[in-house]
Amino acid sequence: MPVATIRSPSPVGSEAPSKRPRLAVDPEANLVDEQMALPLEYIKSYDRELDYRNKLVLAPMVRTGTLPTRLLALHYGAGLVWSPEVVDKAIIGSERTVDPDTGIITYSKGQGPIFYTHPMEKPYLIFQIGTSDPELAVKAAQTVQQDVAGIDLNCGCPKPFSTHSGMGAALLSTPDILLNILRALLDAIPLPISCKIRLLPTQPSTLLIASRILRTGIRNLTVHCRTRDMRSSEPAIWDRLSDIVQLGKQRGVPIICNGDGDGWANWESIRNKTGADSVMLARAAERNPSVFSPTGQVDTTTEIFSRLLNIAQRIDNPWGNTKFLLNQFKPSPPPISSKSKAEKKVVIEAIARAKSVEEIAEKLQIQLGRGEEVMRDIEARIREKRDPDMFAERKQAEADGVTADPIVNDISLQHADGFEVGVGQAAIERSS
Ligand SMILES: Cc1cc2nc3c(=O)[nH]c(=O)nc-3n(C[C@H](O)[C@H](O)[C@H](O)COP(=O)(O)O)c2cc1C
Repeated sequence: MPVATIRSPSPVGSEAPSKRPRLAVDPEANLVDEQMALPLEYIKSYDRELDYRNKLVLAPMVRTGTLPTRLLALHYGAGLVWSPEVVDKAIIGSERTVDPDTGIITYSKGQGPIFYTHPMEKPYLIFQIGTSDPELAVKAAQTVQQDVAGIDLNCGCPKPFSTHSGMGAALLSTPDILLNILRALLDAIPLPISCKIRLLPTQPSTLLIASRILRTGIRNLTVHCRTRDMRSSEPAIWDRLSDIVQLGKQRGVPIICNGDGDGWANWESIRNKTGADSVMLARAAERNPSVFSPTGQVDTTTEIFSRLLNIAQRIDNPWGNTKFLLNQFKPSPPPISSKSKAEKKVVIEAIARAKSVEEIAEKLQIQLGRGEEVMRDIEARIREKRDPDMFAERKQAEADGVTADPIVNDISLQHADGFEVGVGQAAIERSS
């Protein structure tokens, strides 16, 4: 079988370095220009377009991003909410049931729910799929499309359970598969399609893959400004986003910046540095889902706990998940919370020991049985006319002097997420 030979104009070692001709233009930059000159692959219009601009949005988060978190985020003003990643084969073939009392829609297969939602979040809910197969991606999207507003492809998860089967961040190394998944979704699904990526190690290769993705006809690209090997404790590299934002502008596709967003504490510096259309929050929202509120955060251990426990009781949220969420919400610093350090410690210990919603509510003196009322309240907030430009709304709140939040970037409040690339994993990935 003939072997193809890639011929370099100047084979390595054939000349002294000083005489080697220098490439005037970066070849990847040429390829980006070529991509940007090509027409869009899919020109679509949708019955319900999604507005991805001028917002703080809730990031996809496995375990954390369940229905209670999404409802709380929407209650406090999140512009859009992403579901946790759901793997294609997990959702395909699941059974859809609707609880006539609560309205909760559950997709389940075997034991336990795979995904559950409430119709009130549908206009803002983007369902994220983990996949490495165009056909399965379409089947997964078709399974849930009646209950969500958009479909997102996860191209950023660095965990071995994703990357070993070619999903998540592994798709960044197989761009043809990544693009074929987007094309299949664009072809078959009557909802806006989006995609979440990480940075590649070099800027030219990041721009090349971004230009190819933007050409497909997707409605939004979110960039987690870290590379696959970076841990979440390493600062996000916002500086590298502005070039991608420029490509997005040329294609008319909004770019969302993700990584180290701290809500109103740093949205403006992120926007000034990157030009991003919106900012996506993961860990900041995990600590306190009221981080989205244009008028400032509320106390987790009182208001947020109370809402969460009442929602959890009403929708019968799995206790394991409710307890996990309680653990993720971090006690608010003063002046948001008036609790002393000792009182906060009591709360944390109570959560650690609790075995049910009722038990923890009793310990924290939270009144239960208000779930229906809390859900109605959230629904009313969601249905209120929302300002499509959250940033203008925040500016107005600042001008009116009704913002109450301090800058919440105290490093002691940060915590390791369950999702970062562990030391061992990074070592394995580097050596493979
Ligand atoms: C608990 C947790 C679960 C996550 N699950 C997902 C996921 O399902 N899909 C995804 O694309 N990213 C996931 N991520 C990554 C976040 O969406 C986000 O990209 C990352 O945390 C950086 O944002 P941040 O600096 O605001 O936390 C997860 C992060 C955390 C903390």
